[in-house]
Order: sequence, then C-alpha cells, then structure tokens
Amino acid sequence: MAVMSIAGPASTAPPPTLPAPARLRVGRLELDSPVLIAPMVGITDAPFRRLARELGAGLVSAEMTAAEAVVRLIPRTLELLSFDPEVRPVAAQLVGCDPGVMAEAAAICAARGAMVVDVNLGCPVPRVIGRGSGAALARDVNATARVVQAMVEAVDVPVTAKMRLGWDHASINAPELSRALEDAGCAMVTVHGRTRAQRYQGQADWAEIARVKRAVRIPVVGSGDVTDVREIRRRLLAGEVDGVVIARGALGNLWFIRQAVRHVATGELLPDLGFADRIALTRHHLDLLIDHHGEARALVVGRKYVAWTIRGCNGAARLRAMVQTLVSRADLDVILDQALEAGLGPGGWFHPVFTSGEG
Ligand SMILES: Cc1cc2nc3c(=O)[nH]c(=O)nc-3n(C[C@H](O)[C@H](O)[C@H](O)COP(=O)(O)O)c2cc1C
Repeated sequence: MAVMSIAGPASTAPPPTLPAPARLRVGRLELDSPVLIAPMVGITDAPFRRLARELGAGLVSAEMTAAEAVVRLIPRTLELLSFDPEVRPVAAQLVGCDPGVMAEAAAICAARGAMVVDVNLGCPVPRVIGRGSGAALARDVNATARVVQAMVEAVDVPVTAKMRLGWDHASINAPELSRALEDAGCAMVTVHGRTRAQRYQGQADWAEIARVKRAVRIPVVGSGDVTDVREIRRRLLAGEVDGVVIARGALGNLWFIRQAVRHVATGELLPDLGFADRIALTRHHLDLLIDHHGEARALVVGRKYVAWTIRGCNGAARLRAMVQTLVSRADLDVILDQALEAGLGPGGWFHPVFTSGEG
C-alpha cells in the first residue's frame, strides 16, 4: 500500500520503552493495532478506509448496509461494499434482523472481500429500529443470538457485533447480550458506551464497557468519546478493553488516528498537525476521493472535509462559501492555497461537533 506522504511533525522526545498492549485477535485474524476505525455512514467509504489504514488503523470498516438491500444486489448498496484488495483488513457491517437474510448477506460480503462481518445492534434511527433492527434487535437477546449464529454458519470469516449498553439505563443488557453472542460464535464485540435513549448525548460510560469485558472471553472493543490518546493507552494497558474504535474523534482531524496508533504502540506523543500539514493531508484525502469517485463526485463528497479543515482560518466564512461551489481539483487548490495564505485566526482550529450518527 502507498505510504502516506504526510510525515507530520516529529515527536519531541524519543519514545521511552514502555509496555505495549496485547495484540488484538479477531478470530484467526491478528490486527497490527488495537486502534480501529468505527463504521460511519457517509464517511467510511473506500478512500477514507485507505487513508485510515495509511495512518495505521488496525481494522477499517465500511458503513452499515441493509442486509435486505445486499441480498437484492442493489447497485448503490454493493458500491458501498467494494473492497480494494490493497486496503486490508477490512470489515463490512450489516443491519437487519432476519437470520436467513443476514446469513445470505454475510456470505455476499465475504465473497466481495470483507475479512470480518459485523452486525449493527446499535443504530438508534427510527427507520431502522422501526423494522426491529439495530438497537431494537439488541433488546431481544435470543433473537440476536439466532441472527449471529446463522451468520457464523454461513461464512468462514469472523462475525462480530457492535452494540450499545442497552435500550435505556433501566434496561442495560450489553454484558448478557455479549455472553449470548459469544456462545453463538461471535468473535468480538464492540460496545458503544451509551444507550439507545441517549443517542449521541451525554458521555460514554467506560465503566459499563469494562463490565462487558469482565463478562466474556472474546475481545471487547470500546467506543464513545475516543479523543484522548493517553486515555486509550491507559484503558488498554489496564485491561478494561482489548481495543478502541475512533469515530467522531477523527472527523476533521484524521491525524488523530496516527497519534493514537503511535501512542498505543510506543508511548510516543506525536504533536498535532500544523495548519499547512493539515491542509496537505486534506489534499491527499481529496486526491484519494478523486481516484475512487472521479473528479465531479469526489469534489461534492469531499466538501465536508475541506470545510472541516479550514475551520478557524482567517476569512473562513468567505472560503466556506467557496467550498459549496467546489467542482474541480483546480477549485480545490484555489481554496486551500487561499486558506494557507490567510493562516489560522486568533482562536486557532476547532474540532467539528456531531450529535448524530447511525450506531
Ligand atoms: C456520522 C456517523 C455515522 C455513524 N455510522 C455508524 C454506522 O454505520 N454503524 C455503526 O455501528 N455506528 C455508526 N456510528 C457510531 C460510531 O461508530 C460510534 O460508535 C459513535 O459515534 C460513538 O463514538 P464517538 O463518541 O467517539 O463518536 C456513526 C457515528 C457517526 C458520528
């Protein structure tokens, strides 16, 4: 795989020799980092996955796809499941509740190159839970176990699951659900430390995630507010989780992936990117988007990344308006060159805030 052209600033001190967390194994698959990228609708497409792997993520995931649409071979859905053979290991994520359909869809994902098939048990949005899937399926431990068992029987690759703590605080069932899924052959669980009722509000509860870890023997990966490299390493070394998934922490700040991976592996603290390197990383991301989607579509898909990058720069409002009209690589260069020339404003760069998602 191409090595990312952005070296970034060097760490200030040589890495001390510190203990490293245990290797994360998902079934027979051994990951080279326990820092993973969460599935994210509208974000984790093939170019994003490539970039996340270049930055060192141990496993990258396609966004959730509806099992019903996969088995009906809907072209738009299958496009989300096109896996570049160079970008591995990669997971697909399915949402659905019918064991037969989920099993058939899992086999299609594996045949298309997914090395892990994950079940979405956390999606809180009405169009998903209204059909008994996502966080609604997770309320029924036995029904969920039947879905996972059917998938395990249908594919040779590991089947994993991503859940919330429970429907609400009165019905937390992640430990019980994880135990049942382990018995059904599930190879790993990811636990988002919020309930469905919380959606994306409030803080993720990592004490509850650690309770799941104590309840099962399969690896447990934690999700929720993963934004602090020291905290990630501490949780891993303390055995509270076997891995973490980065989600909103990387949006607008992809360098965080490299910082987290490096800190977990060596204890090194890589500085944040300066504005010029941040812009160079966005150019690289947009080039990957262009390679994959072609110029016209890439520059529509990529507008959000450009807008996130130029947050806080002098004259940002004018440049943001230009981002909405981006149609060519040449336009992109104009905007990014102007941003670079304008420089960061007095408040500096700030992280975008998201309060919604699908898991
Ligand atoms: C834009 C967006 C899209 C998401 N899409 C998915 C998805 O497809 N499948 C899933 O399991 N979780 C999805 N999630 C949830 C994340 O994977 C993660 O569990 C959640 O954002 C909590 O982590 P955070 O607080 O670090 O963002 C999404 C989140 C966001 C912000």
